[in-house]
Amino acid sequence: MRSSPGFNMFLFLSLAFALLSLGSGQITQTVFDDYYDSMATTECLAEPGSLMYGGGVILNPEFIHGTSAWTVFGQGATELRISHTNNRFMVARNRKRPSDSFSQKVQLEKGMFYAFSAWVQVSQGSETVSVAFRTRDGEFVRGGSVVAKQGCWSLLKGGIAANSSSPADVLFESKNISTEIWVDNVALQPFSKQQWRNHQEESIEKVRKSTVRFQITSVNERGLGVGGANVLIKQTKQGFPFGCGMNFHILESADYQNWFASRFRYTTFTNAMKWYSTEAKQGQENYTIADAMLKFAQDNNISIRGHNIFWDNQKYQPDWVKTLAPDDLRKAAEKRINSVVSRYAGKLIAWDVVNENLHFSFFEDNLGENASSMYYSMAYKLDPTPRMFLNEYNTIEYSGEEKASPGNYKKRLQEIFSYPGNEDIPAGIGVQGHFGTGQPNLAYMRSSLDILATTGVPIWLTEVFVDPGANQAQNLEEVLREAYSHPGVEGIIMFAGPVYAGYNSMALADKNFNNTLAGDVVDKLIQEWRSKDLEARADEEGFLGTTLLHGEYEISITDPISNSSSTSRFEVTRDSFRKIYHFHI
Ligand SMILES: *[C@@H]1O[C@H](CO)[C@@H](O)[C@H](O)[C@H]1NC(C)=O
Ligand SMILES: *[C@@H]1O[C@H](CO)[C@@H](O)[C@H](O)[C@H]1NC(C)=O
Ligand SMILES: *[C@@H]1O[C@H](CO)[C@@H](O)[C@H](O)[C@H]1NC(C)=O
Ligand SMILES: *[C@@H]1O[C@H](CO)[C@@H](O)[C@H](O)[C@H]1NC(C)=O
Ligand SMILES: *[C@@H]1O[C@H](CO)[C@@H](O)[C@H](O)[C@H]1NC(C)=O
Ligand SMILES: *[C@@H]1O[C@H](CO)[C@@H](O)[C@H](O)[C@H]1NC(C)=O
Ligand SMILES: *[C@@H]1O[C@H](CO)[C@@H](O)[C@H](O)[C@H]1NC(C)=O
Repeated sequence: MRSSPGFNMFLFLSLAFALLSLGSGQITQTVFDDYYDSMATTECLAEPGSLMYGGGVILNPEFIHGTSAWTVFGQGATELRISHTNNRFMVARNRKRPSDSFSQKVQLEKGMFYAFSAWVQVSQGSETVSVAFRTRDGEFVRGGSVVAKQGCWSLLKGGIAANSSSPADVLFESKNISTEIWVDNVALQPFSKQQWRNHQEESIEKVRKSTVRFQITSVNERGLGVGGANVLIKQTKQGFPFGCGMNFHILESADYQNWFASRFRYTTFTNAMKWYSTEAKQGQENYTIADAMLKFAQDNNISIRGHNIFWDNQKYQPDWVKTLAPDDLRKAAEKRINSVVSRYAGKLIAWDVVNENLHFSFFEDNLGENASSMYYSMAYKLDPTPRMFLNEYNTIEYSGEEKASPGNYKKRLQEIFSYPGNEDIPAGIGVQGHFGTGQPNLAYMRSSLDILATTGVPIWLTEVFVDPGANQAQNLEEVLREAYSHPGVEGIIMFAGPVYAGYNSMALADKNFNNTLAGDVVDKLIQEWRSKDLEARADEEGFLGTTLLHGEYEISITDPISNSSSTSRFEVTRDSFRKIYHFHI
């Protein structure tokens, strides 16, 4: 950090929030967005970005007091350096092992979330730098990583959820020991579960609801206004897509059909559209099941995410594909994409085009580095309406992930959508959301979503699943709430269902279609994320103001004098803020 105080973004934002909470929410919304951006840039900056949370529990976070409060971790050496712009930062050099760096001891408290951030640089090239917490029993818990570069500062943003109370050394790691690790402006901010939840609620108010006004007019003996008109506002469709995967068992069971259609308006077929399902033997395409599932969905107004055209994992190719020579693979893959995308053109809201292409590279290995980019291009030409998604695991759920870290995800997204001709394709960020049995690391989940959200590309959680365990239902609820409250998230699909259909590990309903605990959570959230019917009265001028969840509505208006009434429809979206809806009866 520079020795001169300079511009403190955090203070500025706190002040801006305080002032704006007195004034117009329109401006609050803008500042809120800036707030997320300023906390999550993936740009590499000439000077380190600002310190967050005043450093939180980190002492001497800006190295203004030299190396005070920091110690050498492992072997190697550390030193304080001062840049030509008079900025002080810490350097780890002569490293012998990846974790050789410097550390500071903090006390972790069980049940707390810790948001972490620091600005990092490496002395040469570009290397992944991670933050780790070494607990009392010697375990290294990773809290996130970033690909840091030479010559500019990158933001390493992440966090952990503490399982137990323990002193821990906060330290930095990089596998390539021949580079120095440079660090500045380190922050670790603890939050209780209640504080975390409160922030979610504040965010939900801002990103899922809009304050709107209605003006009801009528040409009657009293002139224009309909003072005291009675209105009844009913939500006819929820604005936020919250759906569930389904499989072929839906075709066999009226109970499963009723269970599904009474809850969900969005789906993904978990396997039925995959290449190994539609062309298990070369040349023998069979869409019987996928077509029938599509018809069921269409008959019930359920929107479908197409999943998937290709899967970049060698293991999940149809058997006959695994051994094809490159030229034959190219031909077979072209036939596949043409076949499945033309068949469902105009009928889907999204396509997972090349599934898991950060973790795997079957098509790149066989057909060249631009294989996936070319398939996005072809899919778009065959079906220009659906959003074309990447779809990855571990990006938001696992703070030890390097391959599919949020920074690498963003880079891959940019590679694919800046490939010549792909610039106009509507892009989507799919994050699967397969969580383990432990406490979900919501601090890391939020920081990852913040980073992905800086692209401005809509984020969907596409396959939310929480491993079985004592707290499965509670963990599921925490994950779903975190996603719903994040401004960058535009939809959630779970990969779950009734035991009847084989969804045993995260069953939402038992064999009698009675809810499991996880099913109760889902039903509770469906209710919570839906507007209740609202009965109200317009004022003497015919005005009425209220705050509504986004979605489609029906309004019935009754003139209290003439008793004449009318019904209209309207929609509330993010853009409806302070909008005035005019109705005439
Ligand atoms: C480690 O970093 C040095 C310096 O940037 C570089 O020359 C070398 O190739 C890197 N090693 C690996 C394995 O990436
Ligand atoms: C939480 O507990 C699990 C299982 O013991 C462990 O693997 C994980 O690293 C722990 N995480 C934290 C942040 O302590
Ligand atoms: C296509 O799949 C359906 C459903 O599995 C099956 O009943 C049918 O026999 C298959 N058609 C052919 C030609 O194999
Ligand atoms: C589907 O939507 C259409 C148009 O909004 C509506 O007429 C129809 O009743 C809906 N069907 C079901 C099963 O909800
Ligand atoms: C892949 O695409 C990039 C960007 O258009 C191009 O520079 C590169 O040469 C391509 N690689 C191959 C093997 O065609
Ligand atoms: C579960 O479902 C069955 C069949 O619908 C019903 O008879 C039973 O009472 C239900 N059990 C519970 C605990 O609700
Ligand atoms: C309107 O309805 C109210 C209650 O149903 C009734 O008392 C009143 O007489 C009605 N007025 C007219 C003009 O029909």
